[in-house]
Amino acid sequence: MEQIMEVQGLTKNFGGLSALRNVSFTLEKGETLGIIGPNGAGKTTLFNLLTGFLKPTQGTINFRGENIAGWKPYAIVNKGIARTFQIVRPFLQLTAQENVIISCLCARAMEKRRGADRPEAKARKLLKNVGLSGKEFILAKDLPHGDTKRLEMARALAAEPELLLLDEPFAGLGHHETSALFPLIEQLSREGHSIIIIEHKLRELMKLVGRVITLHFGEKIADGTPDELSRNQKVIEAYLGKGGRTFATV
Ligand SMILES: Nc1ncnc2c1ncn2[C@@H]1O[C@H](COP(=O)(O)OP(=O)(O)OP(=O)(O)O)[C@@H](O)[C@H]1O
Ligand SMILES: [Mg+2]
Repeated sequence: MEQIMEVQGLTKNFGGLSALRNVSFTLEKGETLGIIGPNGAGKTTLFNLLTGFLKPTQGTINFRGENIAGWKPYAIVNKGIARTFQIVRPFLQLTAQENVIISCLCARAMEKRRGADRPEAKARKLLKNVGLSGKEFILAKDLPHGDTKRLEMARALAAEPELLLLDEPFAGLGHHETSALFPLIEQLSREGHSIIIIEHKLRELMKLVGRVITLHFGEKIADGTPDELSRNQKVIEAYLGKGGRTFATV
């Protein structure tokens, strides 16, 4: 298997608080990796470091042959990492299609443009792929929450990333919306995208990923298959406190 990313000794301090401490892991090309951990464990901080929204205090992020630690977000997108946000942030006063067109204009997307595919046409295709056909001209602010999550996905995919980072794709979605979004992520995974997913809904996550990293107070406390995780006492305690017995109750 070809390695797409190797993170080593990644650390982020905010004043006296160590939000992420000496975290290392690798990611294979085409792998779908889960990141879990209690609130405040450092999951989003990790994504912010991988995407250039924060500069690491220490550590390296080797991605496709270069150490991208500390690069600006646009440079990282152009190198091939795109993300969605825990708190969705589309341009509310623009339509779904306009939101995606903007992402289609980034340098990487323009470079990857096939033939005469104009940004409008590409945006329409992306919206179709995420299940938003027919909603192209609805303002982002008028879309239901589940659809804004799909819109965020289309915007991230516009850059044709080598690696897609999804920060709690199922958060705030009801049962129905969650089951509707699930196959889309499954499809992206099947298509061979390398994906890292942060998610609290463990039941859904475990069906999507082959491997899971657990963060707790900024440190990596476990790295293994969903099955290994469910039997890992450290992980159970991080979630349920000492004396926690079964992972399935989370
Ligand atoms: N910009 C910042 N300035 C100061 N502290 C921060 C900043 N961003 C995050 N933190 C702190 O770093 C720690 C990790 O936060 P982070 O958002 O990464 O957690 P998380 O694992 O994503 O949590 P959640 O599951 O609630 O989304 C928290 O204690 C948080 O308050
Ligand atoms: Mg978070």
